[in-house]
Amino acid sequence: MLPTQILEVGGKLSSRLKESSYSKGRYLLRLQPNDGSILLNLLALPTGYEYKTYFKSNTSDAASTQNSGYQLVFDGSGHLNVLQDGRSVVNLTKGRESPAGDYFYRATLDVDGLFTLYAHLRAQTNGTWVAICH
Ligand SMILES: *[C@@H]1O[C@H](CO)[C@@H](O)[C@H](O)[C@H]1NC(C)=O
Repeated sequence: MLPTQILEVGGKLSSRLKESSYSKGRYLLRLQPNDGSILLNLLALPTGYEYKTYFKSNTSDAASTQNSGYQLVFDGSGHLNVLQDGRSVVNLTKGRESPAGDYFYRATLDVDGLFTLYAHLRAQTNGTWVAICH
């Protein structure tokens, strides 16, 4: 995901198969419609059979009784939030203060199944992407 991108309910984010391949990999991230939880699942390939969820953000604990209207939003300052009707119910990057300087951000479901936030200093044209949280 890139800043300003939104993952709607029903949308899916897949990992790559390998670092060197953009084919769909073994991991899948999605936003659960009824409670806004983020689910991470391991898939069997090539069948796509889903094994048990290995990560679940407990969005429902924070959410209201109205169980709809969720979005996963990656904002321009590199923060990931689950919003319900535009209001943040879970801030996945809470406590991570923006570093000094001007950064590019991306959030990736890595080949190893970790959902990772990366930053890259804008001024460094040959710089590297650094993982700043999972
Ligand atoms: C999420 O947390 C970060 C760091 O604590 C904060 O800067 C940001 O404003 C928060 N975002 C929302 C929508 O609450």
